[in-house]
Amino acid sequence: MSERAQFATKMGVIATSVGSAVGLGNIWRFPYEAGVHGGGAFILIYILCVLLLGIPVIIAEFVIGRSTHKNANSAIKLLAPGSKFRYVSYIGIIASVMILSFYSVVAGWILEYLFQSIIGNLNGHTSQEYSEMFNSLTGSPWRSVLWTTLFLGANFFILRKGVQKGIERISNLLMPILFLLLLLFCVNSLLLPNAQKGIEFMFRPDFTQISPSMIVGAMGQAFFSLSLGLTCLLTYASYFNDKTPLVKSATIIAILDTFVAILAGIIIFPAVFSFGAEPTAGPKLVFEILPNIFQQMPGGYLWSIAFFILLFFASITSTISMSEIFITFCTEEYRMSRKKATRINIAIALVLGTLCALSFNSLSHITLFDKTVFDLFDYISSNIMLPAGGFILAVFVGWVMNKNIVKKQLTNNGELNVRTMRPILFCIKYVAPIAIVVIFLYVIGFFDYVSTLLF
Ligand code: PHE
Repeated sequence: MSERAQFATKMGVIATSVGSAVGLGNIWRFPYEAGVHGGGAFILIYILCVLLLGIPVIIAEFVIGRSTHKNANSAIKLLAPGSKFRYVSYIGIIASVMILSFYSVVAGWILEYLFQSIIGNLNGHTSQEYSEMFNSLTGSPWRSVLWTTLFLGANFFILRKGVQKGIERISNLLMPILFLLLLLFCVNSLLLPNAQKGIEFMFRPDFTQISPSMIVGAMGQAFFSLSLGLTCLLTYASYFNDKTPLVKSATIIAILDTFVAILAGIIIFPAVFSFGAEPTAGPKLVFEILPNIFQQMPGGYLWSIAFFILLFFASITSTISMSEIFITFCTEEYRMSRKKATRINIAIALVLGTLCALSFNSLSHITLFDKTVFDLFDYISSNIMLPAGGFILAVFVGWVMNKNIVKKQLTNNGELNVRTMRPILFCIKYVAPIAIVVIFLYVIGFFDYVSTLLF
């Protein structure tokens, strides 16, 4: 195997992982999931999932990746020869391709909205017209496929040219600007009439909203948003150097990612109530609300262009990390050339992405369990495959891996005094795996079934 590069600085580590984590998951998916599932109670459970499942599983991925400097498959082979746990890498690869496919459709919508902003078409319409605008985009087979293809083309170009480091550097510069822009938009939203209703919706939990689908939704959203359970962060950690403090980095990544999601909620929900929209609109929520926000802001034309450019960069650093899982696997396990692996990855995503784009129009009648191809890809990957992957990785680190290696990784060979070590190990070993299984059982109605047997 060729010499593997390493991140030179701590900033490099955190910035690259945050680049993967922060994306459409925070700004598009979080508000829509929170809206569909009733707001405050969802957000509370989401935060619990980040703390009790998210941070421990990030650390588990980091420990495996950094202790071996290898991709998931070889890493597990090295740590536990002959163990079946290495098959988790296949879950990761399949999930990463599924996510890349539907994610590129949404990133394609971002490109169209950027285009519409530039030509001045995102200004001066009624809420009704914005809603129609979104429907006409997703309803048009050729437009959705075109933008999906353009986005995947950009992804291909960056990976193919090997300039992802460059893109990550640009993105590291742009991310703080995105942060500032989001803060500014928050202030703007909080000043809207009726803003208080939106804030109450987010922060006053209505516990009657708690249901199996809501809990599994919150868990799936936490895994999706943290890029977790598909060995993406494991692959990134295989490039970390020995000085990287794993626990601290994991905590910072989780906090920053959650912060961005909450900011997105504070931007969207006050506006939802102010413009008389429905928080339960689903995937179209953000696309219908944002243009309304921009147009009432002074200088909205420029704000919207800046916002969609930044969101494009946030998305592309996330899709690069998804492709990287597939590419590292093919190049390291099958000695395939990087170019070939990239070509195959993008070709598959293009075919599946086209199906996802068409599932809003020509293929909208094709459904399974009442879900279109797009919804199905999203649901199966985020809510089932990522938590299942997280379960396997946590069990591996908690029960199979040599304890000393784990402790050495957490403390950087005894150099760091990690006061939270015990609770973290406890969460990796017990809390995360048990919670994931209990949530799965809850969703399939196991507890209802047991109670009908008992009573
Ligand atoms: N976490 C990314 C986001 O929030 C999406 C992602 C999922 C990236 C899985 C990599 C792997 O947009």
